[in-house]
Amino acid sequence: SQERSLQVFTGTFVHSTQVSPVQILNDHILGVDKNGKIVFFEASDKEEKLSETWHFNKKDIRVLQPMKEFFIPGLVDTHIHASQYSNIGTGLDLTLLPWLTKYTFPVEAKYKDLKFAEDIYTKVVERTLKNGTTTACYFATIHTDASLKLCDIVDNYGQRALVGKVCMDINDTFHKYKEETSHSLEETQRFVTELAKRKYPRVKPIVTPRFAASCSSELLKQLGLFAKHNNLHIQSHISETRPELEITKRLFEKYENYTDVYYQHNLLTDKTVMAHGVYLSDEELKVFHREGAAISHCPNSNISLCSGLLDMRNVLKHQVKVGLGTDVSGGYSASMLDAIRRAIDTTKILSVQSPGYEKLSYKEIFRIATLGGSQALGLDKLIGNFEVGKEFDALLINVDVPNSAFEMFPGETNEDIFQKFLLLGDDRNIEEVYVAGKQVVPFLES
Ligand code: GUN
Ligand code: ZN
Repeated sequence: SQERSLQVFTGTFVHSTQVSPVQILNDHILGVDKNGKIVFFEASDKEEKLSETWHFNKKDIRVLQPMKEFFIPGLVDTHIHASQYSNIGTGLDLTLLPWLTKYTFPVEAKYKDLKFAEDIYTKVVERTLKNGTTTACYFATIHTDASLKLCDIVDNYGQRALVGKVCMDINDTFHKYKEETSHSLEETQRFVTELAKRKYPRVKPIVTPRFAASCSSELLKQLGLFAKHNNLHIQSHISETRPELEITKRLFEKYENYTDVYYQHNLLTDKTVMAHGVYLSDEELKVFHREGAAISHCPNSNISLCSGLLDMRNVLKHQVKVGLGTDVSGGYSASMLDAIRRAIDTTKILSVQSPGYEKLSYKEIFRIATLGGSQALGLDKLIGNFEVGKEFDALLINVDVPNSAFEMFPGETNEDIFQKFLLLGDDRNIEEVYVAGKQVVPFLES
């Protein structure tokens, strides 16, 4: 890894805290040490004192252009199927279960071919990084070697990620895409062991039963115990569509509800993130809160597959951790800016349907895309905002680039400009991306 000394930036920083969904801090100065940690973040009038303490020179400070450039924390995609990137933007004419059979299982089966996997995984990591996803929580496929290949690529590009080898021993609609129960556990163990040997600093494994309907109780039990004994992250899907709920109820008759299925198999922990949760009851949300488990809200997918609309206000009222996810390719965009926009649409549609509904502001949704995502993945001690002590995962936004998707007009405030970037901006406005203080976009030769 490259040698870096102290990096110092001055200008405008926009981030979220627990008490404030959006703080716009002008004339601030931020220092990042050689390990990528934020060591100071203060008003610029402290510059001289800081330069004495930290031994940096004025000429080494990177000065951001006022009203044009600002830093935001890296975006956290809490749910993305890297393998489904080869289907992105296609085949959204069906609902979840027939969509899985017709489009998704066939494409995932192709990842037996390592060359194919390498090509698509390279593209998805490049695409997400360029769009500001500094941390991704990936589903790969059932294939261990291809899943390890995804880890290699993520590390090589310098993205931060949780990567899951998918586990499933039931598939009645596409027979060739499933595993034997014992093999699924053994391969998960091999995946975790092999990844550990690589010693990648920011790529971690996540235990990944696809969803209850594609796993036997025995497989869920073994994965739950394995995760518990090794203190591993866990991801799956829950309560995404009504037909899925019905199937799950039939397969797991003796359980109280969908949440109870995962809970009883040791799969609902404070390191668990469950995608969707559209149809979770208040009772189930209370269990999520009690166990410290998180929900990944995937609004593009929920709309594209006609799954339903997640009531995020209710999730927040239950104090359940929540992040945003693109859910490629049930969701048709790999950009977290799109997830932010679809989350805004979802909360507004709910308010149209139910007058008096307390919709989320775009600021709250920005917090969910950054700090919320870090909490949902149990990484909030490390990332999520610009608190001193965290690692510097950040996007340098420039709202005045050639061919920008939007114009700037006189009289716009910093807040207007920030909102405009969220609603209209794209990767052209994301000039630089940093993960743990290292610049990873534009891509540098490795
Ligand atoms: N439930 C089980 N598998 C999947 C998947 O690949 N995508 C989505 N959206 N839901 C699922
Ligand atoms: Zn998914």
